[in-house]
Amino acid sequence: MTEPRIKHSIPDARWPTEAEAAASLWFSPTHIGRLAVEQRTWVPAMVPWRATEDGFVTAEVLDWYARFAEGRPGVLVVEATGIRDIASGPLLRIGDDRFIPGLRRLVETVREQSAGHTRLFIQILDFLTVRRRPEPATFFARYLPISSPLRERLARALTDERWRTAAEGDVRARLAAAERSLVEAVLDERELESLDYGYRERVWDTHLPWIRDLPRVLPALFAAAARRARDAGFDGVELHYAHAYTMASFLSRLNDRADGYGGSREQRVRVPLEALAAVRRSVGDEYVVGIRFLGDDVVAGGSRIDDAMFYGVELAAAGANYLSVSKGGRFEDARQPKIGEAVYPYTGASGYECMPTVLGDARGPFGRNVPLAAAIRRAVREAGHETPVVTSGGIHSFEQAEGILRRGEADFVGAARQTLADPDWFRKIRLGLGPQVRRCQFTNYCEGLDQRHKQVTCKLWDRDVAPGERDVRMSLDGKRRLEPPAWRPPTPS
Ligand SMILES: Cc1cc2nc3c(=O)[nH]c(=O)nc-3n(C[C@H](O)[C@H](O)[C@H](O)COP(=O)(O)O)c2cc1C
Ligand code: SF4
Repeated sequence: MTEPRIKHSIPDARWPTEAEAAASLWFSPTHIGRLAVEQRTWVPAMVPWRATEDGFVTAEVLDWYARFAEGRPGVLVVEATGIRDIASGPLLRIGDDRFIPGLRRLVETVREQSAGHTRLFIQILDFLTVRRRPEPATFFARYLPISSPLRERLARALTDERWRTAAEGDVRARLAAAERSLVEAVLDERELESLDYGYRERVWDTHLPWIRDLPRVLPALFAAAARRARDAGFDGVELHYAHAYTMASFLSRLNDRADGYGGSREQRVRVPLEALAAVRRSVGDEYVVGIRFLGDDVVAGGSRIDDAMFYGVELAAAGANYLSVSKGGRFEDARQPKIGEAVYPYTGASGYECMPTVLGDARGPFGRNVPLAAAIRRAVREAGHETPVVTSGGIHSFEQAEGILRRGEADFVGAARQTLADPDWFRKIRLGLGPQVRRCQFTNYCEGLDQRHKQVTCKLWDRDVAPGERDVRMSLDGKRRLEPPAWRPPTPS
């Protein structure tokens, strides 16, 4: 997004009658692999920050998914869930069997609330270390490695050879007291980034043994997590190969690993394919294994649609049961965080493309990513695969979704924020109650909460209390409704 910012309004929607909805493609059945799906409506993964600090399902997690299940979408994807057994804050985890009972309750809850109509997948992901932006004093005192090249640059900048051998404490103290121009002359690009943004690992940091080992480690981690997803009763598993995380970074053109897992497209896709193969071996041929990946990295030097078309074909040929196409959401162009906060990958231009808002360029936020899904779908079909393709990003109305399906641009049409704004919207449309849909404003209040790791809610819920509704539960900060307003059965006319 490079053009000047324009404020778009939410387009008027023409809603279908009940009969029109029943005859539509969006509400017609299909299948994913051998799994029957009742509708082509889809709720992509959204992290609500409701798990326990050690990654377990809570009552609030169950309520969150139960509420989406009431709207009975064709497919509901559970939020990005960590595959490693490591502390990661209130993000769901699936890195050990002890997480299975909670996840099983989640499956049962969605089955019950949707009366078995909704298919439930879980998105599984790996991510690398990202640290908070440090206080400069702490950075210079503790985190900055005092290497020989750094000493050399300092000696050169100060034209004083003694810095080559000076005591480490003196080097640290000198840099802590230095003006910015000296800091910039002495720190290398990555050290400066660690100071200004916080330390962040890349998949091409192969000097770090645990990064070098990723190709050996990741397939087994994904495979074990997928097996747990199957054991917990999910209808399928979605491998998170999108946005700012490990697998998307392997796929990115920025990945220049020299060990056969970076450089050319063929090499960049190797780990993702090896993980897919390991997952397939662990869950069997019948189980749904889908992939979410990027149609465009958006960031400078990143992958573009031609890479994504190649990946789509490779992943389909390797037996992925669906391809869910997203865009951007990378760290490389994220805004500088405040001291004490971590860099958030949805703040730069690539973040805008991932979750576009009404404040944008002339194209506006609506259906902006559809051409990527359409191009990938075309490439996959031309290669002889029937793998369904899911599109999402700025989907807000029935007509828009139906048009996408009729034109053959995608096989499923997903809506994250519109479904957050009104989890009943699919159900309302099906019942011919479209005018009652609470329409997303696409201003990203919810995403702002996600950024601060606060319980995600929609700003529209607060203004809408159903008649007779009591015991409205509030968020931890006491300021917001924690859950959407209850479903209001239609009044007979
Ligand atoms: C609060 C929030 C959390 C999200 N969490 C995830 C996630 O866990 N995994 C993922 O792939 N995308 C995530 N997304 C991105 C959405 O799945 C979706 O791609 C994006 O919001 C654009 O679709 P929309 O315009 O329908 O909202 C999240 C979006 C929001 C608003
Ligand atoms: S908070 Fe705003 S952008 Fe998010 S779902 Fe609600 S209306 Fe949409």
